[in-house]
Amino acid sequence: MATTLTITDQRTKRGYEMPIRDGAIRAMELRAIKEDASDFGILSYDPAFLNTASCRSAITFIDGGRGILRYRGYPIDELAKHSSFLEVAYLLITGELPTATELDGWTADITSHTMLHENTKKFMDGFHHDAHPMGILVSTLAALSTFYPDARQVGDPESRALQIRRLIGKVPTIAAFAYRHRLGYPYVYPDNDLGYAGNFLAMMFRMREARYEPDPVLERALEVLFILHADHEQNCSANVMRSIGSSLADPFVASAGAAAALYGPLHGGANEQVLRMLRDIGDLRSVPRYIESVKQGERKLMGFGHRVYKEYDPRAKILKAIADQVFEVTGRNPLLDLALEVERIALEDPYFVDRHLYPNVDFYSGLIYEAMGFPTDAFTVLFAIPRMTGWLAQWQEMLLDDEQKIARPRQLYVGHDRRPYVPIAGRAAMTRERQGVPMGG
Ligand code: CMC
Repeated sequence: MATTLTITDQRTKRGYEMPIRDGAIRAMELRAIKEDASDFGILSYDPAFLNTASCRSAITFIDGGRGILRYRGYPIDELAKHSSFLEVAYLLITGELPTATELDGWTADITSHTMLHENTKKFMDGFHHDAHPMGILVSTLAALSTFYPDARQVGDPESRALQIRRLIGKVPTIAAFAYRHRLGYPYVYPDNDLGYAGNFLAMMFRMREARYEPDPVLERALEVLFILHADHEQNCSANVMRSIGSSLADPFVASAGAAAALYGPLHGGANEQVLRMLRDIGDLRSVPRYIESVKQGERKLMGFGHRVYKEYDPRAKILKAIADQVFEVTGRNPLLDLALEVERIALEDPYFVDRHLYPNVDFYSGLIYEAMGFPTDAFTVLFAIPRMTGWLAQWQEMLLDDEQKIARPRQLYVGHDRRPYVPIAGRAAMTRERQGVPMGG
């Protein structure tokens, strides 16, 4: 079986053999291909990383053509069925499912880090009343770096383990405080007798009751949503986490950067946009017109399409079933019928079929969040809470990978060649010349 790739450079007629390992060639091998000794060598050009593996990873496996997603080898549907979120978090971080004793220790560790320094509240108070919760989350994560200067010891395994526990423990508290700040409600401190998702619900929704008892169906649904969102290999935000982490910045600022990437409407911000889109469509009769405008390129169908999945996103399948369980408790979200109609029409239309565009995780998650009482602009924060675990697993793997260095892509320079400096007095004339305005005009 051939294990090499043979390339002939037609400029020099020279041949090159490149080893193929795990279905890839190393881009650095291309540098040997030169016209002459002074030549830099061939670069590979891959805007948006469409066909470039940036790392070797043992965390998450996706087969986009077959709709498969596994964490550390375990199928996502089995984890969603049998595990708690903290079990999955342990799996992603350590590589193995915990024993009962390990899980107890891990849960105690995480819950001992759920509190925020009181100054964080003062910091959050500075935000405007209608500040977007993702803006607050991004800034607060970065601010935490100043509370934990020890986090800069990224080469120390004990420090890394501590920061990982701090971040997984604190992110729901920051998210809930961001939501309460927006409503002007007093912040609710963590209740460490509740589970990870249950405590988050309590910090979000507890009002005057002495103790908040989460509805078990909604608590489990949120736990499953957290499991489904925990990691997704080299997505935009994971890539940012690795990239910032590669400069040896601490994980608080690195995860702030990752959260900023998640905020965008093409990534985690899509769940918020799906709800806005469904409200825009308004009624069933308007669905075909809306789909037509998508096909005309006027807009994207939010919650559809994926860089990797060219099949139904396995997470969206699980979410459809969760939606039914949640709606039995909360009542049916009236937007569900619209969502189902959008999906039905899109999946029959050659535009979407030919491009392999299927609903992704964000298509149904917003409907569930809304039915559970979360405001639309909190949806992306709900994505960020579990994804923190994935970011940290990716960050740790990157730091322990001997092959990794500071992330620093190359470019193909397409700008001006060297040109003489123009003093300020001469620039207006130059601008006119560039714009084709006759001199003196
Ligand atoms: N609606 C309409 N057309 C689409 C859509 C969509 N949602 N997604 C892709 N296309 C078209 C795109 O215009 C292109 O058509 P053509 O070949 O004629 O130019 C073709 O499908 C291929 O798309 P692409 O833009 O090359 O695909 P990509 O891998 O660069 O983008 C994506 C992936 C997720 C950014 C994109 O599908 C999208 O913008 N979807 C809507 C936003 C969304 O739901 N994002 C959440 C992604 S899943 C969760 C997460 O990762 O956070």
